[in-house]
Amino acid sequence: MRIYECADYKAMSRRAASLIAAQVLLKPDCVLGLATGSTPIGLYDQLTEWYQKGDLSFAKVRSVNLDEYLGLAPTHEQSYRYFMQHNLFDRIDIPAESTHVLNGLAQDPDAECAAYDQLIRDLGGVDMQLLGMGHNGHIAFNEPGDDFGLGTHVVELAERTIDANQRFFASRDEVPRKALSMGIKSIMGARRILMVVSGADKAESLCKAVTGPVTNEVPASVLQLHPDVTIVGDTAALSKLKEAGVPVCG
Ligand code: F6R
Repeated sequence: MRIYECADYKAMSRRAASLIAAQVLLKPDCVLGLATGSTPIGLYDQLTEWYQKGDLSFAKVRSVNLDEYLGLAPTHEQSYRYFMQHNLFDRIDIPAESTHVLNGLAQDPDAECAAYDQLIRDLGGVDMQLLGMGHNGHIAFNEPGDDFGLGTHVVELAERTIDANQRFFASRDEVPRKALSMGIKSIMGARRILMVVSGADKAESLCKAVTGPVTNEVPASVLQLHPDVTIVGDTAALSKLKEAGVPVCG
């Protein structure tokens, strides 16, 4: 596991974007696993900027997103499909048919999840999976206590996740209670994992994830078992790790 420390959110975004750009330059037809949430927005802005300058093309890239709310249409402003179109896909040259996000309106959510795992296999697996981390250590919608052996599946959102996400909705009642999510098994199948973490409010969970026991009570702790993980964090997010004496690169 490599851990990079960046002074602030902007520097973290730039560093993480450069690692994704390196992946795309090395393998232009790579499969990128992408994430939503507030943390990756800056890195998507940076990738867009490099595309607009002509330094980077996504014309051959294929993408799969981690998760989607169950019950939200792709056109709903809080759906993750909408987020991806708005923050990245509509701003770069990735062909629409190369982007994959779980269908939140699927009639048969379990079948949708099984088809998604098959899609990932058909694409040849994920070359680089981008992750954010929730305050409780969740990755994608894999909440504390969830089984590490699951592929893509339907999840009940934890109360804390509903609380954290309510800022994006008019009221707490409007936050969907279920989602479709790649499971830990699907995530661990990626050849390379890049996790971005920002802010002091995640420092404790990040420290547990990196230095604590591998336990499904801290879903991100499973990353200790993956052979190629890079964490890019800002100084605030890495503060507890550094106090614990974990070596980080500048
Ligand atoms: C997003 C996702 C979530 C977020 C996590 C952190 O696709 O799967 O696990 O990465 O909730 O969200 P932010 O970045 O908003 O703190």
